[in-house]
This record gives sequence, structure tokens and C-alpha cells, in this order.
Amino acid sequence: MAAIIVLSLIMLVLLLNTLKRRRVEKKLLRANCTLNALIENNQAIIRKQDEVALLHETCRIIVDHGGHRFAWIGIAEDDPDKTVLPVIHHGLEEGYLDKVNITWADTERGRGPAGIAIRTAKPAICRNILTDPNFALWRAEAENRGYASALSLPLIVSGKVLGVLNIYAAKPDAFDHEETSLLTALAADLSHGIEAIRTRAQKEQAEEARRVSEKRYRELAANLQLKIEEERTRIARELHDELGQDLTILRLELTGLRNEFKVEEKSPIDGSAFDKIEETIELTDSIIKKSRSLATGLRPVILDQFGLIAGIEWLAENCQKHSGIKCRIDDLPENVTADAAVVTALFRICQETVTNIIRHAEATELKISLTERDGELLLTIQDNGRGITNEELANQKSLGILGMQERASLLGGSLVILGRGVEGTTVSVTMPCKKSKID
Ligand SMILES: Nc1ncnc2c1ncn2[C@@H]1O[C@H](COP(=O)(O)OP(=O)(O)O)[C@@H](O)[C@H]1O
Ligand SMILES: [Mg+2]
Repeated sequence: MAAIIVLSLIMLVLLLNTLKRRRVEKKLLRANCTLNALIENNQAIIRKQDEVALLHETCRIIVDHGGHRFAWIGIAEDDPDKTVLPVIHHGLEEGYLDKVNITWADTERGRGPAGIAIRTAKPAICRNILTDPNFALWRAEAENRGYASALSLPLIVSGKVLGVLNIYAAKPDAFDHEETSLLTALAADLSHGIEAIRTRAQKEQAEEARRVSEKRYRELAANLQLKIEEERTRIARELHDELGQDLTILRLELTGLRNEFKVEEKSPIDGSAFDKIEETIELTDSIIKKSRSLATGLRPVILDQFGLIAGIEWLAENCQKHSGIKCRIDDLPENVTADAAVVTALFRICQETVTNIIRHAEATELKISLTERDGELLLTIQDNGRGITNEELANQKSLGILGMQERASLLGGSLVILGRGVEGTTVSVTMPCKKSKID
């Protein structure tokens, strides 16, 4: 008989254990489902970059799925009072947060679970609100709303406690080991979510700042190019028109003087003074030549008077004359209708490329072509020299090339350079005929 009783008791204990394990398993399964649903939901919110929605969704799941009475999130303010500022809540609140006035300072109002969780960066539990002396300040308000126990979990973002997630249950001792672990995992997930959103927002801000500063730099560069070109044109005109005219008059006067003394039978000046006048005429000729060449170097009059095609022909002619490199021009259209800025940019790119060929290419021939199609101009300059290397192209100190690329992109165009070893180098520029806005 006794054996039967003992056996029955053992059976009963085993049965109870099995039931308990099943209950725990069921609870864990439910908890895991809730956690998975939350993580999935949160991923979607994080992608949408909505921090408030993420906080709210977490509180909602804790109350609606987790069966708790009330959940709220407070931010640990860095003010002198170390205020815990409630920002989001869900569940039965009924004005509770307006009344509680919580701080995370080590004072009476900071010794509830929320204050402790923030200060220690660890979960804090109030197992029984009715008896816990640390909860005395808020007990009456909590009791009125049926809160019996509370759990506060720190939200740690970028290594710093940003705030606290607070959960209130209707039963005392509601936060056993499993429940606390689950909710701690949930708070960690929320913290990661906030961090991800903030990091992405910071990256976007930095990217935006970079875009704005690049735009400003480009506008500045465009403006500088314009001002330099205006200044060059002004100085070239002054050299050509003002100084050139004055020098021509000076030369005429000197020639007149020389001729006058030459015809007089008894010249009032001696031979050496006469020679001085001759030398001065020669010097004036040389200054006239130099000032013309200076003016043309600054900005060839031909470009403004006869346009891009004449400018390119002038460049090729000059190159052949001074370097001996044979210059061929192909496919030039009759004329091109392009904005003045586009004409200047293409001319300057062509000029820099031809100068580079003379200085670096060791070429015997170069070929220039210009075609216009669908509102775009394509300028190609090809030489038969040693070919530019990839290292030379990528070199940060290749400022001439960088300047050409910048000139093209400032007007909505593009410039490509191909160095093909022994076959020489090709520079191709595509530019819209009408100058486009920088963006
Ligand atoms: N047509 C070319 N053929 C071969 N090498 C070239 C050619 N054009 C440029 N390079 C190389 O690329 C470098 C960079 O050119 P660039 O930016 O114009 O600077 P710079 O002319 O002041 O040296 C040159 O120093 C030269 O080594
Ligand atoms: Mg150069």
C-alpha cells in the first residue's frame, strides 16, 4: 500500500514537472514569437529611419503582445536636474507621467527603478510596488492605476545611456528570469535600432554637407574661371588697343624724326645720336611685337572675332610653327553655335592639350577634330607620342589635366583621356553647346 502511495506521489511529481516544463516552453515559444515579430517590425521601421515610430512600436508590443499594463520610454536629460523626460508611452497611463517627476540624480526622486537603471546602466526591478520602500514616492499614483511591479531597462546608444524603457505589470513579481531576459533582449534591440537610425542620419548629414560644400566649391571655381577669363580679355584688349596704339604712334614719331634729320644737309645731331634714334626704333618694334604676343597669349583676338574654329586653326598653326609637330585638322564644321563660356572652355582645353603634347608627348604628329551633334560638341585631340600612363593620369599633381576636367564638368560636359602606350594619347571632350547649370 505504502509502495503504491509512494509510486503515485512520484508519478504526480513527474507529471507536475512535465506540466511546468511545458508551460515554460510554451511561454518561451510565445516570447520568442513576440520577439521575432518585434525584431522584424523594427527592421522595417529602422529602414524608414523613424525613431519615434520605433520607440512607439516597442512599447505597443510590450503592452499589446506581452500582456503588460503600461510601458513608457524616458530620455536621460543632461540638464542640472538630471531629468528623465518621458517621450513615448503605451497602455494604461491616465496622466501618470505628468505626476511622477522622475530624475536620474542620486536623490530621493532618482532612487526608483528608472533612475537606478540609468545611473547603473543595468536593469532595475521593483518586485512589489506596494511594499518596496524605494517606490514610496510614486506608490499611490501607481496603485490607482493598478501597477503592481515594474522593470526599468537602460537604453545604451553609442556606449552611453540615452534613456530608459519602463514596464509596469498588474501582478507583483511579474518579472521572473525568463521575462526579464526577454525584455532585456528587446531593450538591447531597441538600442541597436536607435543607434542604426542615428548613425545613418549622421552619415546622410555628412554626405549632404559634403555635397553642399562641393557645390559651393564648384560655383566658386566656375566664378573664378569666368573672372580670370574676363581679366585676361581686358588686359589683352588694353595691351592690343591702348598700349599697341601708343607704341605705333611712338614708332611713327621716331621714324619721322629720323627721316627729318636724314634729309637735312647739316644735321643738328651727330652720328651717334642718329644711331640712337635708329636703335630706339628697333627697340620699339620689338616691344610692339612682344606686347602683341603677350596679348595673344592672354586671349587671342581671333577667338572673339572669328570664333572657335578659327581659334583651333590658329592653335594648330602656331604649334606646327613653333614645335615642328605636324598638325592635322579633321571634320571641322563650317561654324558652331555655342555659348561664349563653352567656346572659351573648349579653346582652353585644346590649348592645354596642345601644350602638353609639345612638352611631354615626344610626338611627331597630332590630329584635332571637332564635330557637332544633337546639341553637343565633341572635340578630340590625338597625338602619336609615347602615350600618357595611368600613373600620370591618376597623379594628384596633374593640375593641368584636373583643370581641363573641371572646365568640362563645370559646363555639364565630360573629358576622357586615353593613353595607349606606344600609340600616343587621345583627349576627348564632350560639351553641350548651351551652358548647363551646375548641380
Ligand atoms: N599628350 C601627352 N603624352 C604623354 N604624357 C602626357 C601628355 N599629356 C600629359 N602628359 C603627362 O601627364 C602629366 C600631367 O599633365 P598636366 O596635368 O598637364 O601637368 P603638367 O603639364 O604641368 O606637367 C605630365 O607631366 C605628363 O607627364
Ligand atoms: Mg600641362
